[in-house]
Amino acid sequence: MSYLSGKNIVLGITGSIAAYKSAELVRELREAGAEVRVVMTEAATSFITPLTMQALSGKPVHTRLVDDEAEAVMGHIQLARWADLIVVAPASADFLARLVQGRANDLLAALCLATSAPLAVVPAMNTGMWEHPATQDNVARLRQRGVRLLGPAEGDLACGEYGTGRMLETGLVLQQLGDSFDTGQLSGCRVVVTAGPTREPIDPVRYISNRSSGKMGYAVAQAAAEAGADVLLISGPVALTAPQGVKRILVESAGDMQEAVMADIDGCDLFVAAAAVADYTIDRPAVQKLKKRARDLQIALKRTPDILAGVAALPDRPFTVGFAAETEDLEVNARKKRLSKSLDLVAANLVGQPGTGFDADENRLHVFWEGGSRLLPTAPKQRLARELVRLIADHYHNRRNARETHAKDSA
Ligand code: PMT
Repeated sequence: MSYLSGKNIVLGITGSIAAYKSAELVRELREAGAEVRVVMTEAATSFITPLTMQALSGKPVHTRLVDDEAEAVMGHIQLARWADLIVVAPASADFLARLVQGRANDLLAALCLATSAPLAVVPAMNTGMWEHPATQDNVARLRQRGVRLLGPAEGDLACGEYGTGRMLETGLVLQQLGDSFDTGQLSGCRVVVTAGPTREPIDPVRYISNRSSGKMGYAVAQAAAEAGADVLLISGPVALTAPQGVKRILVESAGDMQEAVMADIDGCDLFVAAAAVADYTIDRPAVQKLKKRARDLQIALKRTPDILAGVAALPDRPFTVGFAAETEDLEVNARKKRLSKSLDLVAANLVGQPGTGFDADENRLHVFWEGGSRLLPTAPKQRLARELVRLIADHYHNRRNARETHAKDSA
């Protein structure tokens, strides 16, 4: 499985003779399944044309900070939020210096400043420039800030010298970018994730359901797989395809979902309930299609089983994570839910508002656990899910380590 598959990548190109290699890089990124948007500095356009990059990326190339046409396609702030990763390849000495200073004097620098996505730079320059204390100082500061440096490599340089400063070969760049999504934090773990809505049948053609699209749960399943877990996704009816490397079971009703979860929960290390499970189902669904009547219709509802609480009550329970979908008093309600369902972690989101929660592409989560909480700010659901999975994995490992230490001490 390529960890780049389905990822949104902004490829920044700066002024360097190595810019021709970005043409190969964009092709390879797309072959790996990534969607690529190219942003070029003015200097970069002297080395390779935006038209070439447009043809290879299949998307308009962004070159200027103030560009009505490009803004109409995708504004620069939108681009900063869209990206799962920004990679600047080649990155010139001047660009590294501007990055350190936090300049926003062209589109690429402004994007790097505005984004919350991880940033990788692939330096390419003359050996003297690379080894200069100013550049080395800049590189050290970028590393401290969490910017990933890929290369440079040693070899013949365009200026005729030999030394360190060559842009890393694109195959290696690709591999290291892919690896940056593979945290390995959950390798060896079995994870069950629920996602999407349930449908509670009224009769053979009608049902009660909700607005869940499955995007949040599918993103969690994908992030867990990227973290190395063996993931089973139990999903209500949605229009999404299963993430790569994730086994999926499709179900309809809350009852079906409970059955599927309980059949597979044995030996599972983590359970994440992102599904919007109906709290009520129809007491006696009609066998035949209900006929229209002259008077109003009353339908009796009964409670569905609480799948999450059921898993948390198992004697050998997995590390159990629930979601809380709230329209008000988010924190109070989420904390109550965590306690009443005996959850290790609860990820709370505001719903019923445009642009977040149900069916939106972005979300914001407030995660609560015993004695602590963390806010994961608004971001595309895929990126948010990666952060959530990192947080879950940290707590899961801490608990496991604490148990192992306790077992050793009492042996
Ligand atoms: O699917 P999307 O369009 O991307 O939207 C994402 C989301 C808003 C659906 C998701 O982020 C979310 O909040 N999921 C939980 C929705 C929900 O049902 O919340 P709740 O507060 O009603 O339930 C609390 C928890 O109990 C949830 O983990 C739920 O999966 C679980 N539950 C609820 C009822 C039930 N019968 N069984 C359960 O397991």
